[in-house]
Amino acid sequence: MEKILITTSFGLESLVKFQLRDMGYEDYQVSDGLISLEGDLSDLAKLNINLRHADRVYLELASFKAMDFEELYDKVKKISWQDILNEDSNFIVNARSYKSKLFSLRSIQSISEKAIIDKLKTYYKKNIFEKSAERVKIEVMIEKNIAKVCIDTSGDGLHKRGYREGTVKAPLRENLAVALVDLSFYNPDRFLFDGFCGSGTILIEAARKARNIAPGIDRNFDFTKFNFINPKFFKDAKKEAMEKIDYSKKLNILGSDISGKAIELAKQNAINAGVEEDISFITRDFGSVALADDYGIFISNPPYGMRLSDLDLKEIYKKINYKLAKLDTWSLYFITADEKFDRAFKRKISKKRKLYNGGQKVDFYQYFGKKPD
Ligand SMILES: C[S@@+](CC[C@H](N)C(=O)[O-])C[C@H]1O[C@@H](n2cnc3c(N)ncnc32)[C@H](O)[C@@H]1O
Repeated sequence: MEKILITTSFGLESLVKFQLRDMGYEDYQVSDGLISLEGDLSDLAKLNINLRHADRVYLELASFKAMDFEELYDKVKKISWQDILNEDSNFIVNARSYKSKLFSLRSIQSISEKAIIDKLKTYYKKNIFEKSAERVKIEVMIEKNIAKVCIDTSGDGLHKRGYREGTVKAPLRENLAVALVDLSFYNPDRFLFDGFCGSGTILIEAARKARNIAPGIDRNFDFTKFNFINPKFFKDAKKEAMEKIDYSKKLNILGSDISGKAIELAKQNAINAGVEEDISFITRDFGSVALADDYGIFISNPPYGMRLSDLDLKEIYKKINYKLAKLDTWSLYFITADEKFDRAFKRKISKKRKLYNGGQKVDFYQYFGKKPD
């Protein structure tokens, strides 16, 4: 059995946990931003392709106490690197440390790298390694003096689904966007609307989930080039994911944005994502959208931040209030870095949740509507 670590941004651990349960995994431990479980190498393919909310999937190679650099060097060197790295593997070591005696990231990184090279030198009987072949990202994470040496099997973060050609300013990460959908009352029978949709991330993620399109189906992962992972695992997991796609249901999803350029991007992204038939996109100022009080779900990331003047923000909030505050049957969800959004929006808040978009703290303001009969 292998030890697999899944990282996620703070606040999304429970969503990863629910998906793991749905995928049939039973034993996993959850801590802040990290989920660990046991599995075999084929699980790396399944997890990378299917996990919607996670950041990365790691394979743990060793876990040990490291109180000084000598101990770190010896124990990193003990790992059978010759089974993992080819003589020309382009390996990169990254370090993290939390509440530990070894805290200099640069030293942790360089000492671990030296230990790996020294091990390879004895095995391959050469002194210089070209690093011209596949990328292998190695992560040394030390927490409370326990070091975990892992390989990043994902490569690019899992939020990169492969369908995004271009983005607007401040796009939402795809794994956060789908988390918002999962934290809302949306289900594929309901109408979903984003009136500040930008490049369409929330809506595209909602449609892909409703269609059961695995988030990683269109992209590649670093593990596909690792010599110790059978290529069949990726092929099989991809085939299984393809068979689960379901285009039978009709979806009712609308996105609008004041920027014609953003709408063009959103349409192209929806095409790339295989959900262009499921979402209608229109260029429209939010003040001009027409909404009926019909149990819709609104999930949006309204503009906020550097380039927006107070006056402009006030104007946008006026439109949001005018269009949405009285739609009692609608459930409304706003993700924004504006810590005072709930003061500006004149409806009683149901829940607020702290989340992160990349590294940036954002709040998810939730206003529950009446339940449909
Ligand atoms: C933070 S961005 C949304 C990003 C989006 N969630 C994504 O992932 O691409 C806010 C969007 O609001 C749009 N916007 C600004 N003022 C607007 C208005 N009055 N009506 C409609 N959209 C507006 C901007 O064009 C921008 O695309």
